[in-house]
Amino acid sequence: MKIAVLAGDGIGPEIVAEAVKVLNALDLDFDMESALVGGAAYAATGHPLPEATLKLAMESDAVLFGAVGDWKYDTLDRPLRPEQAILGLRKHMGLFANFRPAICYKELTHASSLKPELVAGLDILIIRELTGDIYFGQPRGRRIATDGHFPGAEEAFDTMRYSRPEIERIAHVAFQAAQKRSKRVTSVDKANVLETFQFWKDVVTEVGKEYPDVQLDHMYVDNAAMQLVKEPKRFDVVVTGNMFGDILSDEASMLTGSIGMLPSASLNSKGQGLYEPSHGSAPDIAGKNVANPLATILSAAMMLRFSLNQEAAAQRIEAAVQAVLAQGLRTPDIWSEGTTRVGTAEMGDAVVNALR
Ligand code: IPM
Ligand code: MG
Repeated sequence: MKIAVLAGDGIGPEIVAEAVKVLNALDLDFDMESALVGGAAYAATGHPLPEATLKLAMESDAVLFGAVGDWKYDTLDRPLRPEQAILGLRKHMGLFANFRPAICYKELTHASSLKPELVAGLDILIIRELTGDIYFGQPRGRRIATDGHFPGAEEAFDTMRYSRPEIERIAHVAFQAAQKRSKRVTSVDKANVLETFQFWKDVVTEVGKEYPDVQLDHMYVDNAAMQLVKEPKRFDVVVTGNMFGDILSDEASMLTGSIGMLPSASLNSKGQGLYEPSHGSAPDIAGKNVANPLATILSAAMMLRFSLNQEAAAQRIEAAVQAVLAQGLRTPDIWSEGTTRVGTAEMGDAVVNALR
């Protein structure tokens, strides 16, 4: 089982170190190899996704990823910015299916900004298409407008597009995921305005006919954003495009009160996957031993489940995380009166102890 370990920037190295600690505490045989990515790679090699890093990722069964990004790189030309590393990995590895669970842990119900009764027991799975849509659609760029409201003016443009096979494959992923849960899928679109998303809705509906046991409904993205804060528990599996999924998954993660708790998986059709916390690189708290490593540790559990065929080990990690929460241990992001404040490394150690 070969794992590429790409820690990246900001808090990335600290949180990944804890996940590696936890993986090493399982009695399994991993071949873990680290490489530079993001701003760290740019600083060392002049590129955020060096050839060697991409090669290592492509040759591995799974990538354990920290986070990329730092303000100091925000003025670089776009192709050199840290974010290009994650976009490049998604594109080159074909990681089209992004799983973003939003789970509200019993112990953290009060950390949510919503009323506890709205989020208690919340367990939503957002499935975001990750290699298409306006993120990757060509053409894009800047030019002088020849039409529109201001002909002759400078303008910028991107292209929203989805092909039938791209929609079909992510729809299958969503229906199959729903079959293992409560058998409900909500497809989120903007079919009332956009051709791309009328097509999305039509194709998802067609694919849905192959899954008569799964109940499919459709929702416009603006309404979905509203329903997520009004009545989040109405959702089970949500499937949507790259852009809407980016926005809704951040919204959903915050319902749980703790973005520091949420893992994610990005899979290709070969079963390879990239596993990363749903949060970013948080450069403001980097190196202070305060970041919450649990999202990364839970991402390692998803990696064991989806790419390494080690379901039992995945469950052991998840149970260990539940156990440390039940013990009252909290990093500052999830700390509340009456619980015990611990640092990044202490949290990782506690998970390792709970495993044993
Ligand atoms: C995410 C992030 C990325 C995205 C950025 C860092 C490119 O926001 O994974 O959600 O927009 O997909
Ligand atoms: Mg995002």
